[in-house]
Amino acid sequence: MKTIALVGCGRISERHLKVIEQIPNLKLVAVCDVQVDRVNKVSTEWKVPAFTDALTMVKATKPDIVSILTDSGSHPEVGIELAPHVPVVVVEKPMSLTLEKADQLIETCERCGTKLFVVKQNRFNPPIQALKKAVDAGRFGKMVLGTVRIRWARHQAYYDQDPWRGTWKSDGGVFTNQASHHIDLLQWLMGPVESVKSYVATRLAAIEAEDTGVAVLKFHSGALGVVEATTATRPKDLEGSISILGEKASVVIGGFSVNRPVTWNFQESEPADEEINKLITDPPNVYGFGHLPFYLDVLDCLESGRNSMLAGLEGRKSLEIINALYESAFTGREVFLHYVPQSVPLGRDFERKSL
Ligand SMILES: NC(=O)c1ccc[n+]([C@@H]2O[C@H](COP(=O)([O-])OP(=O)(O)OC[C@H]3O[C@@H](n4cnc5c(N)ncnc54)[C@H](O)[C@@H]3O)[C@@H](O)[C@H]2O)c1
Repeated sequence: MKTIALVGCGRISERHLKVIEQIPNLKLVAVCDVQVDRVNKVSTEWKVPAFTDALTMVKATKPDIVSILTDSGSHPEVGIELAPHVPVVVVEKPMSLTLEKADQLIETCERCGTKLFVVKQNRFNPPIQALKKAVDAGRFGKMVLGTVRIRWARHQAYYDQDPWRGTWKSDGGVFTNQASHHIDLLQWLMGPVESVKSYVATRLAAIEAEDTGVAVLKFHSGALGVVEATTATRPKDLEGSISILGEKASVVIGGFSVNRPVTWNFQESEPADEEINKLITDPPNVYGFGHLPFYLDVLDCLESGRNSMLAGLEGRKSLEIINALYESAFTGREVFLHYVPQSVPLGRDFERKSL
């Protein structure tokens, strides 16, 4: 049995709480939020002690795992403060907004012997797992083109519900918040990115960062990639998809949360291909069903001692691409990875007018 405490009792905490409840060998022991009303509500409902300070909670309840579900900009600070006092830190995506702070979090965890896991639950979607298996087995041959499309609807009320949303300092725009899952999948399936060119725009939402962005990517393999992302789809969510095209296969996983095989064409088919539609999942919201297999994987890594596919350095990869996308949008240049961001306001005090 492992024990777990949560820092942050906002929107995504409900998903974590419901998933933790389903896992017999994981026990919620405490919750924390700087907003007293929020933490008291969750504490009453889930019958665990409430704290308004994360370090106090960890010292008092000594959980095996702490999950950090605070606004994106604060993830590294909270993680760095807690890492010396807890064996396992789980951090919601994105792990950080700046690469410097991501590195500080990774280094602190390494120094303290604390295991760090980043929530990228879409990697566990059954059709995505099948796609990854096909890629790793070489069933695509030479890679040609990888495309992700995020056409979601986030109305002004979504951004207005909390002051951190849509700000450079604490959130970023559609690339960082919503598309970070899909950008992670793209690099996971297509391999390392060599360079990016991108444009961003703020079309419908009154926010600092972008609600719409497009980008082209060059992979080290020579294959190309496209990112098309917007939260300005109206009137409702349309699509969250990934397409992988190779010399010997074309696969599209669509739905609104990369959850439905739309195209599954292989030059050399295998018996399991006939069963692909059995992997369709239709989650009630864009969070999907992936948080449960994510936590099961964390527990299995702890039990078996195997390395996680979602350790800190893995979470850093999509963050580096996202920073490169902004660097390109802000400078108008092709940006090569690895580089040190010069013009990216993400995670910093923002002094320019909105885009
Ligand atoms: N994996 C996913 O699909 C997914 C989905 C939604 C949100 N998220 C991520 O989860 C994070 C939280 O999102 P949300 O929508 O729940 O935000 P939210 O604003 O609803 O909740 C965040 C909570 O953290 C609290 N908080 C902030 N700093 C704190 C601190 N130092 N100590 C204790 N509490 C603190 C706030 O008071 C707030 O209640 C974001 O980083 C977001 O990107 C991930």
